[in-house]
Amino acid sequence: MKKIIKNGTIVTATDTYKADIEINDGVITQIGSGFYSQDAEVVDADGCYVFPGGIDPHTHLDMPFGGTMTKDDYETGTRAAAFGGTTTIIDFCLTSKGVPLKDAVETWHNKAKDKAVIDYGFHLQIVEMTENVLKELPVISKEEGITSFKVFMAYKNQFQADDETLFKTLIAAKELGALVMVHAENGDVIDYLVKKALEEGNTEPIFHALTRPPEAEGEATGRAATLTGLADSQLYVVHVSCEDAAKKIAEARSKGIDIWGETCPQYLVLDQSYLEKPNFEGAKYVWSPPLREKWNQESLWNALKSGQLQTIGSDQCSFDFNGQKDLGKDDFSKIPNGGPLIEDRVSILYSEGVEKGRINLNQFVDLVSTKAAKLFGLYPKKGTIAVGADADIVLFNPKVERVLSAKNHHMAVDYNPFEGMKIKGEPVTVLSRGDYVIKDKEFVAEPGRGQYIKRANYNEALVKKEDAVPSK
Ligand code: URP
Ligand code: ZN
Ligand code: ZN
Repeated sequence: MKKIIKNGTIVTATDTYKADIEINDGVITQIGSGFYSQDAEVVDADGCYVFPGGIDPHTHLDMPFGGTMTKDDYETGTRAAAFGGTTTIIDFCLTSKGVPLKDAVETWHNKAKDKAVIDYGFHLQIVEMTENVLKELPVISKEEGITSFKVFMAYKNQFQADDETLFKTLIAAKELGALVMVHAENGDVIDYLVKKALEEGNTEPIFHALTRPPEAEGEATGRAATLTGLADSQLYVVHVSCEDAAKKIAEARSKGIDIWGETCPQYLVLDQSYLEKPNFEGAKYVWSPPLREKWNQESLWNALKSGQLQTIGSDQCSFDFNGQKDLGKDDFSKIPNGGPLIEDRVSILYSEGVEKGRINLNQFVDLVSTKAAKLFGLYPKKGTIAVGADADIVLFNPKVERVLSAKNHHMAVDYNPFEGMKIKGEPVTVLSRGDYVIKDKEFVAEPGRGQYIKRANYNEALVKKEDAVPSK
């Protein structure tokens, strides 16, 4: 059935205006005023902003990590995402040495297909660049529409790849028009510091942060940027946590290197002192890179405002406090790294960013939706409100005041790292391809309705036209 969204204020990455939206067969068919159709359902958006659905470019659902599995799978994770105003995620498909890439991709399809309630794509992890991987990559990239490859520079003896692999991945990505993503921390240095701390009897959660200093992130970010320049390729740095790393990205961009940076809400709002909470509560705040000293937050906000960082990911990677985080009760290095953020990503950025005057409404939309759509080959089907785009739409009430809490969140985990935080604004109704997923704050969709998205490659993405760094 047709829908017409009336009386709302449409906000895109570039414009804010009052208009109605007609939706037919899952797609936006008209934007304007005065159109009327007898067979259309009217959705009243009075008092609401009408945003393009959020795009979360960084999630880990149903993923084995740190000796356990993430608590949220594709069903709970995508449902929570929808409650939070996200209508598309791009999740990380893990691979293993010696296992064909296509098997890894099939495993990830099986995790998602009967469970996802919103649309999803995959990034592909590269652990080593062998002849077989080199042969398979063009096929996977074309057939599966996987146009971003992830290299971890940390997590030694687990995910960490060496510089040779990173460099070869950058070269392969250039040829395929794909975007390389890095977790930028110096894993070898961190491994040494962790062993030393444990030998000295330092086992509490705070040592997670102290053994992963900002210099280790800055160094790896600078190294990855330099290798990208050398390969004349393209790079996206995930979860930038500190000034040191943000500066390395800005410096590289000023030299014409094609590099992009993402940060996450936790680095904008929480800080290293949370790891010192008593009764092992600090474990709830163990992310890699770790939370930083508070003064870094201003640098990150400035980088978002000035365009030196371009996206907000959730890095959703959730583990229960009881039964999972406590694997590291006697040894901080055994605390599973990560936290639950898929639901609150959009709202935290709105409340802390727009409401507090740090970014404007259009920058907000760009950060939580449009830029990721452009970088990862989803635009203009997703990431905007325009005729012909998928009707992935969020009605957002900016006036509501609420408190974030595990008591009312929809993620499967037993805690919320933002417990008790007062925020302003709330997604009320969320449409995915024109269907209600959330209607007046109620979940009304079926698991399995979410569709896998084959993405266009980076070179075809429209991002180049308007955002290119100077030399490209
Ligand atoms: O602590 C984190 N970030 N966990 C998820 C895995 C990763 O490094 O992105
Ligand atoms: Zn990471
Ligand atoms: Zn991650």
